[in-house]
Amino acid sequence: MQSREQESTEQMAEHHHFIDRSIAIVGAGNMGTALMKGIINAKLTPSAKITACGIRLDKLQKLSDQWGTKHTLNLLEAVGASEIVLLCVKPQTLPKVLTEIKSALREDQLLISIAAGVRISFIQATVGKKLAIVRSMPNIASTVDEGATAVSFGEFVSEEQQRIAISIFEAVGEVVVVAEEQLDAVTGLSGSGPAYIYMVIEALIDGGVKMGLSREIATKLAIQTVLGSAKLVKSSKLHPAILRDQVTTPGGTAINAIHELESHGLRSMLINAVATATRRSEELSRVISKT
Ligand SMILES: NC(=O)c1ccc[n+]([C@@H]2O[C@H](COP(=O)([O-])OP(=O)(O)OC[C@H]3O[C@@H](n4cnc5c(N)ncnc54)[C@H](OP(=O)(O)O)[C@@H]3O)[C@@H](O)[C@H]2O)c1
Repeated sequence: MQSREQESTEQMAEHHHFIDRSIAIVGAGNMGTALMKGIINAKLTPSAKITACGIRLDKLQKLSDQWGTKHTLNLLEAVGASEIVLLCVKPQTLPKVLTEIKSALREDQLLISIAAGVRISFIQATVGKKLAIVRSMPNIASTVDEGATAVSFGEFVSEEQQRIAISIFEAVGEVVVVAEEQLDAVTGLSGSGPAYIYMVIEALIDGGVKMGLSREIATKLAIQTVLGSAKLVKSSKLHPAILRDQVTTPGGTAINAIHELESHGLRSMLINAVATATRRSEELSRVISKT
């Protein structure tokens, strides 16, 4: 069954557009910087309309020198002067930051949080205003423009603001729209997923080394195998099982390896990993959002 959220994602994906808004990036770390670069590279808004805010001037100065953005240590001033506020600090830092900026937040602004586990209701209650809040769960691949991001919209987010939020995350990868309750499952799949795939890559490398390949060659082959396989699933739009069958010759090497993987429960292990990470995300979310 196709959900309303999926339908609206597809419709909105067509509206990749110039947003031309002033943006404060609160916390220009790994993710904040990735989003900033994505916004600039996708020409969503001029770099001079972006202000990176943080706690270390030298780091912010370097970003300004490289990207032509503004920067400040004064969060209140930057937030007050911006139409969009991107909250990119760690979840444990967010309550302090929200308290610091709440007097500058206005109901006409769009507030986008990427902090894992911090619920929209918590942000709303901390700030105490009817803000347009978007909560998102990106992943680390946003730093190479191949991110997988899920977004959820709070009740005061207009359709235009929804499109803007989607455009920002589309600048660094793929975007889906989900109900907020599903963000824990998103965390279990795509948020934490890169860690599982790194283990797969590492193990493939070791397999190659065990069978006599140099580590350098095994590494190159393992990375490209994972990248190419993902690219083929995405571009062919075929079910992965069909693609797997296409490379499985009767009596051949792949079917013997698949039997080995099945007998050790590879698929069950990955399903359980997503389920376990989802439950952990729910637990952490309860603690962080204190509900
Ligand atoms: N990394 C991921 O894969 C991932 C995936 C999904 C969601 N997220 C979410 O993304 C957020 C950021 O993660 P990250 O990996 O980018 O962390 P990060 O690199 O540590 O970035 C956090 C940034 O916030 C700055 N900061 C700390 N205190 C501040 C304050 N009081 N005011 C303003 N800035 C402050 C830090 O400055 P300094 O560098 O100077 O300390 C740092 O640049 C987190 O909430 C996380 O849950 C991350």
